[in-house]
Amino acid sequence: EKQGFKHFMLKEIYEQPGVVRSCLENYIDSHWTAADHRHSPIRLNLSADLYADLQQIQIVACGTSWHAALVGKYLLEQLAELPTSVQYASEFRYAPSPLTPNTLTIGVTQSGETADTLAALAMEKQRRSGHASEFQARLLGITNRPESSLGDLVPHIIDTHAGIEIGVAATKTFVAQLMAFYCLAIDLAQQRQVIAPAQLEQLLVGLQQLPAQIEAVLESQERYIEQLAHDFAETQDFIFLGRGINFPIALEGALKLKEISYIHAEGYPAGEMKHGPIALLDAKVPVVAIAMPGTVFEKVLSNAQEAKARDARLIGVTPMDEHEAAETFDTVIPVPHVDELLSPIVTVIPLQLLAYHIAARRGLDVDQPRNLAKSVTVE
Ligand code: F6R
Repeated sequence: EKQGFKHFMLKEIYEQPGVVRSCLENYIDSHWTAADHRHSPIRLNLSADLYADLQQIQIVACGTSWHAALVGKYLLEQLAELPTSVQYASEFRYAPSPLTPNTLTIGVTQSGETADTLAALAMEKQRRSGHASEFQARLLGITNRPESSLGDLVPHIIDTHAGIEIGVAATKTFVAQLMAFYCLAIDLAQQRQVIAPAQLEQLLVGLQQLPAQIEAVLESQERYIEQLAHDFAETQDFIFLGRGINFPIALEGALKLKEISYIHAEGYPAGEMKHGPIALLDAKVPVVAIAMPGTVFEKVLSNAQEAKARDARLIGVTPMDEHEAAETFDTVIPVPHVDELLSPIVTVIPLQLLAYHIAARRGLDVDQPRNLAKSVTVE
């Protein structure tokens, strides 16, 4: 069943190009060009009442799905111009935001069975029950299991079609959730007419290139990251830095590492380092910085230099050319140059591999980490 891979997690990491491809096939019209700007290239089959008069979006989720939701917020705000809040389901259920009629609530859960996420959505459904029917309909689930408790609870679903995930650490379902958010944000941006057709066309071209780009990262970097993992088998603390759309990827890189390797890791928005956490840094704490060209590129590089000045070993995930990168970082994990908005899909891959190989190097049970279960069905 592992098809020659040592663990399900590694097999599932390698399934990601296929997962992205199937999302593109299922949900995106590959023939769309800017000339077709009157209709959306996205086919999510969501009913019109979900979108009508929307003024804001709130998203509830846990763990890795919460990280996908943070990327979703970036896309929904920057592409579709819809104010979006992201909340931990376990917090939201005891302190919900005040009810406003033009809000779409989205629950993200790959298993469709996470108790806190279901409870938060059940509460939203209950709160809306006495209101107009359009308002009651504004509940959407993003899941890998449409036939789950989530599917029974909410009127609309985006199926992420990633295939069953066995490794406890979510990998391919995360990438599939990101794809769902690209589709949703692009669809909303097109329908609200807040995106230029040329930008939309460029994004679609970029999306179509992602499967090959993920393959390129897997092929060119896996061996290298496996060797790199030797250096970190005894490391006790790690810091992951990112900004903008890659801040949630820093969080995800840290979560992957801690849950399967049991190494303490923290993800931070790079600009926050100087407000406290920089005090942790010394030669024993490696820092992984995600440095992708775009709005915050220079800022991330200068934040990374601040870490290096504290003797931290600096690892860059970046498409910078070899020489420039070597001047900035102690170690470079090269990734392809992609549109900033699409970059999380390529930056998360090396971080999954890094977590995997460090855990495997430590001889740990990667697919069944201690104290964790694939779906958390208790509060
Ligand atoms: C991390 C991980 C967990 C889950 C979380 C939510 O690798 O697997 O953090 O992401 O328990 O699970 P779902 O998405 O099933 O609601």
